Amino acid sequence: MRVLQVSAELYPLLKTGGLADVAGALPGALDQAGADVRLLLPGFPALRESLVKECAVAPLALPWGEGRAALLRGQLAGLGDATVYLLDAPGLFERPGNPYADEAGVPYADNHRRFALLGLAAARLAEGIDASWLPQLVHAHDWHAALACAHLAASRARLRSRARSVYTVHNLAYQGLFPAPLFCELGLPPDQYAMDGLEFYGQVSFMKAGLHFADAITTVSPSYAREIQTPEQGCGLDGLLRHRAGDLHGILNGVDYAVWSPAHDRSIAQAYSLDRPEGKADCKAALQRDCGLAVKPDALLFGVVSRLTEQKGLPLVLQALPDLLDAGGQLVVLGSGDARLDQAFAEAAARHPGQVARRTGMDEGLAHRIYAGSDVVLVPSRFEPCGLTQLYGLSYGTLPLVHRVGGLADTVVDCTVEDLAAGLATGFVFDAFTVETYRRALRRAFVLWSRPEDWAGVRRTAMQQHFGWDDAARRYVEVYRGVLCG
Ligand code: ADP
Ligand code: GLC
Repeated sequence: MRVLQVSAELYPLLKTGGLADVAGALPGALDQAGADVRLLLPGFPALRESLVKECAVAPLALPWGEGRAALLRGQLAGLGDATVYLLDAPGLFERPGNPYADEAGVPYADNHRRFALLGLAAARLAEGIDASWLPQLVHAHDWHAALACAHLAASRARLRSRARSVYTVHNLAYQGLFPAPLFCELGLPPDQYAMDGLEFYGQVSFMKAGLHFADAITTVSPSYAREIQTPEQGCGLDGLLRHRAGDLHGILNGVDYAVWSPAHDRSIAQAYSLDRPEGKADCKAALQRDCGLAVKPDALLFGVVSRLTEQKGLPLVLQALPDLLDAGGQLVVLGSGDARLDQAFAEAAARHPGQVARRTGMDEGLAHRIYAGSDVVLVPSRFEPCGLTQLYGLSYGTLPLVHRVGGLADTVVDCTVEDLAAGLATGFVFDAFTVETYRRALRRAFVLWSRPEDWAGVRRTAMQQHFGWDDAARRYVEVYRGVLCG
């Protein structure tokens, strides 16, 4: 089956979070599962500069009139021989900052146009704009690509395409909402601005374009698939999601073990593995040294690698920091985003030199060194669709401490006495999202740390976990088959 993957990010070239990791790994796994996969992305500078074997496919008419855009085809240097389509529209995509916002973090005022074009280009491909390859299915990721599903529905209604669509929600909290008058710039039929369409409380919702028009919807863990059908976690869309429950699938993300494995990770101080875990101690000492922490093998070292946002529950880490430090623990935080959270961690690092370290910005190498060098990775998210950092923690034998929610609940087993005894425990899980329950999970981590043999056992179980993309790819192929046969 011919499948077009549409996303705004792609590891390793352009990444703000887990979406990039998924977009980077899923195509290869789908290929292994027998699908013929191509990618469509906006021509952001990091991608545009890497395009090789480039050829022009066709110009694209812009629904709002002025400006020019074209569709290019090629491959991305260093990323194998996958065929990639890029939107060449320098006026829209060649900007500093991240894909969505300027250097000050302010979303671009024309984001509706930038991402409308992404969806439009997907539909044009499904209509046959590239005579050499016609997708049977368009798989759109997150709101940035969601208009593909609305455009495809319109193309099918006009008998211009027979392609089907699958929409993956990576995070329901980011919806792509825009003022209603901008709808006329999206190139969609006017009747799609309706409650049974893109209208959402008087605004245009790109998210709804996916949720309403896709033939199937997936999200990135079974628990999150259930949670988003509740008013508490449905972000106002739970009714629609309940209505579409029969077409909604929770498919857990995988780990690309070619990238996230301590046995052959070139960024870390010393390789190690399940059978030869000794190198982890060297990674810890190197991390402590590099981050200005006291080099103490017996200090329990907690790591955070995270976007600094409300979602990630980091205020709990700050509120319970005295507990962590009084018990002799250390903390290293790598994060970027919210200025107040960043400031709070900077102040903590200044107040507790040698015990707290904070680094800002996106630093892929340091992220690897933190997963390898820490003993515990903290992921106390308020909500978490899947979460990859706890999965990377497991792979590196760095026990995740997580809130029992979303994909975190699906992937980490708490160190209760019974699961310890059964050899199932892989980390520390707290239930209610309160500082008290988080504190208790911290205490469990310190108690386990005081029993080195038990710690080593749990670490072994953690490293034995396998969350391969092969399983996820098989599930996606089943969903694709269902949609194509339906
Ligand atoms: P989300 O997509 O919500 O941010 P995930 O856990 O799915 O959360 O994915 C986060 C990804 O981003 C992981 O690959 C993590 O290592 C990476 N990451 C987050 N913050 C940083 C940072 N400051 N530097 C490097 N990598 C980061
Ligand atoms: C989103 C979610 C995260 C998930 C990632 C990849 O950014 O916040 O939980 O792991 O997408 O699917």
